[in-house]
Amino acid sequence: MSTHINAPEGAVAPYVLFPGDPYRARWIAETFLDDPQLYNEVRGMLGYTGTYKGVRVSVQGSGMGQPSMAIYAHELMNDYDVQAIIRVGTAGGMAPEVKVRDVVIANAASTDSAMNRARFGDVTYAPAADFELMRLMVEAAEEKNLPYRVGGLFSADQFYNPKPLTETLANYGVLGVEMETAGLYTLAAQFGRKALSVCTISDHLLTGEETSAQERQETFDSMIVMALEAVVA
Ligand code: HPA
Repeated sequence: MSTHINAPEGAVAPYVLFPGDPYRARWIAETFLDDPQLYNEVRGMLGYTGTYKGVRVSVQGSGMGQPSMAIYAHELMNDYDVQAIIRVGTAGGMAPEVKVRDVVIANAASTDSAMNRARFGDVTYAPAADFELMRLMVEAAEEKNLPYRVGGLFSADQFYNPKPLTETLANYGVLGVEMETAGLYTLAAQFGRKALSVCTISDHLLTGEETSAQERQETFDSMIVMALEAVVA
């Protein structure tokens, strides 16, 4: 048991899928895992463990933003010895070449987070994905013929930002904005574990384009399959 996760030792699998929305965690567990067992509902942040193709996998909600996500990522690695965390989320498109429904595998994450400033002071740390996980994810996507892009995300502290740097970041190759990846990659580095973030583009900051709920769901489904196939590879 940890401060925010009410589960006995061994209840969480070594590989964890990590959506922001706890209801999505429940939906992933009930849709894709065999024999899913609920191990946490403290603060409604649902966590389940089941199996996929015979391999134990957990799904844990992270909440929105790096402060919430970091609580769960820290406890998963520190208290439950989790070895790899795959964030499965959504992001807003920033670069013109990115379209809604694209799946972005994040090789790196820029951030304006005060959390990384507190950690590193004047040093600009470069949070990066685990290469092995990323390679497995790309291979799973290619094998299943699921479209994807590899590139950078921007992990913003503010969803409603009065002074967004969208154009500047897009000009430097950042594909999309979300709110968790930089913190996740940083924590995985701290604990010497693996992390990867994969996001479907749910809306576009430049074009205003949005997806229907059904389209979002379909793209999200294929992203979950990619992540689970990477886990069992
Ligand atoms: N901003 C931050 N996070 C997001 C967005 C956004 O526009 N879209 C999906 N996640």
